[in-house]
Amino acid sequence: ALYGVVLAGGTGTRLWPLSRAGHPKFLHPLTGTDRSLLQATVDRLDLLAPSERIFVVTGVAHAAAVSRQLSTVPDENVLVEPSPRDSCAAIALAAAVIARRDPEAMMGSFASDHLIADKAQFTEVIQQAIAGARQGLLMTLGITPTRPETGYGYLECGSAIGDGPVMAVEEFKEKPSYDVAESYVKSGNYLWNAGMFVWRVDVFLSELSRQQPQLAAGISRIAQAWDSPAREEVLGEVWPTLPRISVDYAVMEGAATVGRVGTVPGDFGWNDVGDFHTLGEVLASDQAGNVVVGHNDDSKPGVLLHETEGLVVVPTTGRLVAAMGVRDLVIVDTPDAVLVCPRDRAQEVKQLVDQLKDSG
Ligand code: GDD
Ligand code: MG
Repeated sequence: ALYGVVLAGGTGTRLWPLSRAGHPKFLHPLTGTDRSLLQATVDRLDLLAPSERIFVVTGVAHAAAVSRQLSTVPDENVLVEPSPRDSCAAIALAAAVIARRDPEAMMGSFASDHLIADKAQFTEVIQQAIAGARQGLLMTLGITPTRPETGYGYLECGSAIGDGPVMAVEEFKEKPSYDVAESYVKSGNYLWNAGMFVWRVDVFLSELSRQQPQLAAGISRIAQAWDSPAREEVLGEVWPTLPRISVDYAVMEGAATVGRVGTVPGDFGWNDVGDFHTLGEVLASDQAGNVVVGHNDDSKPGVLLHETEGLVVVPTTGRLVAAMGVRDLVIVDTPDAVLVCPRDRAQEVKQLVDQLKDSG
């Protein structure tokens, strides 16, 4: 049976001032509906797994908000990390807890901060990935790259496996330099790693033991104590000692070099909502290309736009946001901070936040 694991970590600093440590992006309705990114991620899995088989891994600061937003997911399926140790520890914890319940389980791991336009296509691609995972592969979903993005992982496609769409991955390269990314995109033989994975839990855990023995041993101790009164004590003792590394570096790169990674190309309107510009590209706009995000409550004053083009406006306070005669700007209104910047510099908001941290 397929278990869905949703990773709800990270704050998304390029979405400041909307996304904050106390209220990270996955809790916000950035989906064009009133559902948050996290809720949309879980909603999207409903044809693949019932809610008893959905797990969420999140930090202690967000566990209550996560449970509140996901009323159908059992509370014991919200796995709470004492501190962030990056995605490998989070995924490994879920895999180990699920393996105790069902040693033959299949698991899909999903980021909570991606938008996916075509749910039917997504569901079909996951089914195809499950077929590859049954054969013992660590499956990725591959997206056709459109630019030399350095923040993603790249999959070098090899030969087809069987007669379905599954392909071998010759090389998995996480976050290459710009020049390398550019040569990958030009070659036409690479896909972006979508950051979603499908595998048998036993296959993943044995690959983890091979490549990250310390992390695997720590997770195994925690999993053994999970259903006992010692859980908190063991978690408190072991968790802070786990290596802080992402699953891409920790497992996927090395697994690809020994031929254990596969991919299915996915054309389901994927966007990782990294910044306000890319968010504006995927959500519906008016005729002049203006996008108003998360604004579904007609009773609120909202937004007044006069002769504007290509704006991304995020009203969150209920106070009126008005703009006139400007184009291609991001405008974000929150109770304690307002951001205005050109759309094509939305990536640099991260630097702005770093500056804030330094001066604070
Ligand atoms: N629970 C938990 N705890 N989740 C975490 C933690 C953690 O400590 N750290 C990261 N995550 C979750 C994030 O919330 C996100 O859903 C997912 O793991 C990936 O982490 P990111 O930090 O967003 O990774 P990335 O965007 O740099 O790179 C990954 O995603 C790209 C696609 O968006 C990689 O998988 C890349 O290869 C991929 O291209
Ligand atoms: Mg990300």
